[in-house]
Amino acid sequence: MPTESTFISTCLMDLSDSRKKLLRLLSGGGFCSGSFLADQLGTSRTTVWKQIGSLTEFGLEIDAVSGRGYRLIRPLELLDEGRIRSQLKASVNKRIREFYIHDQIDSTNRFLSSKLSESGTHGSICLAESQTAGKGRGGRTWVSPFGHNIYFSLAWRYSGGPASVSGLSLAIGVSVVRALSALGISDLGLKWPNDVLWNGKKLGGILIELSGDTHGPCAVVVGLGLNYAMSRDVGAAICQEWVDLDTITHASNPGRNQLVASLINEILPAVAEFDQTGLGPFLIDWRGLDGMKGKDVVLHMGSRKFAGTVVGISDDGLILLNTDDEGIRTFASGEVSFRPQSW
Ligand code: BTN
Repeated sequence: MPTESTFISTCLMDLSDSRKKLLRLLSGGGFCSGSFLADQLGTSRTTVWKQIGSLTEFGLEIDAVSGRGYRLIRPLELLDEGRIRSQLKASVNKRIREFYIHDQIDSTNRFLSSKLSESGTHGSICLAESQTAGKGRGGRTWVSPFGHNIYFSLAWRYSGGPASVSGLSLAIGVSVVRALSALGISDLGLKWPNDVLWNGKKLGGILIELSGDTHGPCAVVVGLGLNYAMSRDVGAAICQEWVDLDTITHASNPGRNQLVASLINEILPAVAEFDQTGLGPFLIDWRGLDGMKGKDVVLHMGSRKFAGTVVGISDDGLILLNTDDEGIRTFASGEVSFRPQSW
């Protein structure tokens, strides 16, 4: 029997139209009385009450105060394809194939990866209001509460093999910084290979997932998670220093739709042209944004650890480390963290 929440698969849950309308009415953060909401939705106050209850399944916190009504504790701007597309450059807009916005999904990257075998996936975008199993690097979970951050994925095919896209995550990092800078956000930096930093704290992360044979064509899903307005409670699950745009801009953030449009306007052309341009057009910017240059770090590669000082990145996007034991060495992968005093 169909229910108001439609389960398209076990991992995808979208709000019904009436719940979405209810959420839009509440999104400004002011109190709305039960009778006002019932009028607007053409339903009874009891149904409104039940629907309010079900919104909490998505992790939304709602105040119910007798005599005043209901209020979202943290106002939000829902993602809206029309509003995003209206702010895209025409040349970018026409390159997008499918445009998905889900209310709740396990992972936007997983969603597009599972569609890569379909011919229309090249150039498809997936955004979600929340993820139940957001994927971070190194098998970590990406904390993904509803409506308060950005979870974005883009699928793209390349005619060259996986080697042709090495360095892509660095180019995306530069694109993200360019998009945020265009919106007036400063003090941004990058941490090899794929963290977006603000004053040394993690603002966002990029996860590129690749499929294809060594020599044949390959497909990538570029995933970006950006902290927009995360509550301290939810963020307590993150095991590194983090920051959100709300904190950076003192809550005068660009709207989420404007932010997503700005990101797509930068990321899509970078991804589309990367097989011709490579990392070259991004190198100067990346080096200027390098938040780890000169820092004493440990590079973790599986169970191996290399201590040294970050020299920078090579022209093909590998990290250069002046190691304690063997001088300057180049690494193609690994996790970099500050070297503890006790090392
Ligand atoms: C990192 O660990 O720094 C990378 C995080 C990438 C998270 C994003 S959120 C959108 C996309 N979907 C996912 O499941 N992960 C990426």
